[in-house]
Amino acid sequence: MSRRVAILVSGGGSNMVALVKSMTGDHPARPVLVLANSADAGGLVRARELGVEADHVDHRPFKGDRPAFEDALHARLLQAEPDILCLAGFMRVLTEGFVSRWQGRMLNIHPSLLPKYRGLHTHARALEAGETEHGCTVHEVTPELDEGPILGQARVPVLPGDTPDLLAARVLEQEHRLYPAVLRRFAAGDRSRIDLAA
Ligand code: GRF
Repeated sequence: MSRRVAILVSGGGSNMVALVKSMTGDHPARPVLVLANSADAGGLVRARELGVEADHVDHRPFKGDRPAFEDALHARLLQAEPDILCLAGFMRVLTEGFVSRWQGRMLNIHPSLLPKYRGLHTHARALEAGETEHGCTVHEVTPELDEGPILGQARVPVLPGDTPDLLAARVLEQEHRLYPAVLRRFAAGDRSRIDLAA
């Protein structure tokens, strides 16, 4: 019986597309819902084009009441009965209350080699620090932001003349390889870590 995967997005959803396109054939999972925190998320259009159910729960009407927003998000997710949640460019920080309901079956992709550069603006910060290597990480989500067990990493070189945008584009290419590779293993019950070379 294949595992049911819901994907949470906030933006264009390129990681979501990579995940959905990977879940075919003998893959142990199938996408059942793409959920955004705004009706304007470009990822919703791309999900529908790929034939995946897509919906949104707008966080703005909740005026900062995160538990109330998360209850609505949780209720919408339960309708799709997912086994696994993938955060893919989902930019709302989730409280412990929400995370504890999905812990052990929720993944996130972060654009740095964790534990380096938790939080935002990872590419600019890596350049400012003079890093020669950078990359991305897929980890299990725990209540501590960007701190959960690492399931996979992919590395890229930092090149002379790199700007945050150039570096972000090089990392994003690796994100689209790493996240599907980790999800395939995770959905088959394999939590061992992988490291992809660029
Ligand atoms: C990715 O770089 C991801 O690591 C970060 O947000 C970006 C989202 O990209 N959290 P997309 O929406 O998947 O294209």
